[in-house]
Amino acid sequence: MKLTLKVWRQKNNKDKGGFKTYPLDGISADMSFLEMLDVLNEDLNEKGEDPVHFDHDCREGICGMCSLYINGKPHGPKQTTTCQLHMRSFSDGDTITIEPWRATAFPVQKDLVVDRSAFDRIIQSGGYVSVNTGGVPDANEIPIPKTIADEAFDAATCIGCGACVAACKNASAMLFVSAKVSQLAMLPQGQVERKERVEKMVAQMDAEGFGACTNTGACAAECPKGISLTNIARLNREYFSAIVSSENV
Ligand code: SF4
Ligand code: FES
Repeated sequence: MKLTLKVWRQKNNKDKGGFKTYPLDGISADMSFLEMLDVLNEDLNEKGEDPVHFDHDCREGICGMCSLYINGKPHGPKQTTTCQLHMRSFSDGDTITIEPWRATAFPVQKDLVVDRSAFDRIIQSGGYVSVNTGGVPDANEIPIPKTIADEAFDAATCIGCGACVAACKNASAMLFVSAKVSQLAMLPQGQVERKERVEKMVAQMDAEGFGACTNTGACAAECPKGISLTNIARLNREYFSAIVSSENV
C-alpha cells in the first residue's frame, strides 16, 4: 500500500505544533497501525530525522496507552484500540491524518504523546478498596449474583485509554469515572468506601479540568471496550445519593 500520512509534530508542551506530511510506501495490509508507524520511524531514523513519538505498551488492546486520533476519530475507523487496528481498514492511496488526544486535561508532551496522569490522580482519589491482606479466600465465600458479577466485570474492562474524553466535545471523563465507580459500587468489597469514593473521584475529575457530560453518547460510541452509558446513569445515582446522605449527617 502507498499512503500519505499527515502527522501532528510538536516538540514539547510549549511548542505550537503543526502537521507534517510524509509519503509512505510498501505497507502491508496485515500490519497493525503501530507497525505502520514503526516503518515511518525507521525511514526517519535512516534519514537522521526525529522519529514520531507515540505511546504504546502492550500492543494487545490491554494497557490503553496507544492514544491516537486517526482521521478525526479516537483509535481510528474501528471501535478498537489503535494497536488492534490493522492497515486493511484503509485503502491503497489513502491520506491518513494522525493527531494526539485533544483535551485540556491531557496536555501534549511531544508529537502524539499526551500526559494522561489526570486519570491516575482520579483513581488515586478513590478508585480502590481497603482490604485486609492475608490468605486467598475460598471460592464462593462471598456470594455475588451472576448478573451483578457480570455487570461489575464489564465495567472493570475499562482500560483507561481516554478515547471517551477525546471523543467528547466537552472532553468529559464521565464514562471512565463511571466505569471505575461502578465496578466497585456493585460488589460487596466496594461498600466500605462507596460514598466517599464517588464524591472524591467526581471532585478530582472536576479539579483536573474535564468538562461536563454532553449526554450525546459520543464516548460510548468510540469506547474500544464497549463501556455502556448505563454506568454514567449509575454514577449520577451514586453521586446524588452520597451527597444527600452526607448533607443529612
Ligand atoms: S471508558 Fe472506554 S474509552 Fe473511556 S477510558 Fe475506559 S476503555 Fe477507554
Ligand atoms: S498498546 Fe496497549 S492497548 Fe494499545
